[in-house]
Amino acid sequence: MKINIAIDGPSGAGKSTIADRLAVILGYVHLDTGAMYRCTALKAMQENIPLNDEDAVCRMLAETDIQMTPEGGICLDGSDVTDEIRGNSISMAASDVSKLKRVREDLVRRQQFMAESKGFIMDGRDIGTVVLKDAEAKIFLTAISSARAERRWLQNMKKGITDKSKEEIQIEIEQRDKQDTNRKNSPLKKADDAIEIDSSYMSIDEVVNAIMNIVKPLISSGDGK
Ligand code: DC
Repeated sequence: MKINIAIDGPSGAGKSTIADRLAVILGYVHLDTGAMYRCTALKAMQENIPLNDEDAVCRMLAETDIQMTPEGGICLDGSDVTDEIRGNSISMAASDVSKLKRVREDLVRRQQFMAESKGFIMDGRDIGTVVLKDAEAKIFLTAISSARAERRWLQNMKKGITDKSKEEIQIEIEQRDKQDTNRKNSPLKKADDAIEIDSSYMSIDEVVNAIMNIVKPLISSGDGK
């Protein structure tokens, strides 16, 4: 029997990479909820809507179509924006729009609708606490900020992006952590029933194995509870 798996944690902890791997192993669907906040920020910026104007961002969002593609990408109003939403300027802008209560309500509704059946691995900041409160498995994936900055920097190097030093990336990550953790609406928070994994000194395989050890018994025993 299929279950739902919630993975929350700060930026750069490896949530998406790990969720992708788990989805392949389990034959589940990975839903990257951060990409939906990123699409919202991208469109608002394209339309010159101030990121703190809740009414205007919500009006825009009501007319916005966001779809995950079967290949793991994301389409905004029919255009593939998978790479475009990964830019540095979009990261902080996504964090800005994610503070808005009614934006969150809209996107949470869509996420809950998409994952109505079981077999989803959803990653974000509020999955275990709000979106999938009843998920059978909840993981809170963390890592120290220097390890997260190092990973992001290496990813950038591979893509030929050399505009930021490791130290600058670490400062940005810490700024976003602060904003995501201290916001009023659904702040980044470990659910009481989530299992915390600190991936600072773990490889991707080690994290995947640790999560597989948590979810396997739940899958084989129905809902495990
Ligand atoms: O996971 P990410 O870095 O792509 O997310 C971008 C921003 O979106 C992040 O800074 C906080 C916000 N976010 C959120 O508030 N809730 C989620 N479930 C996912 C992301």
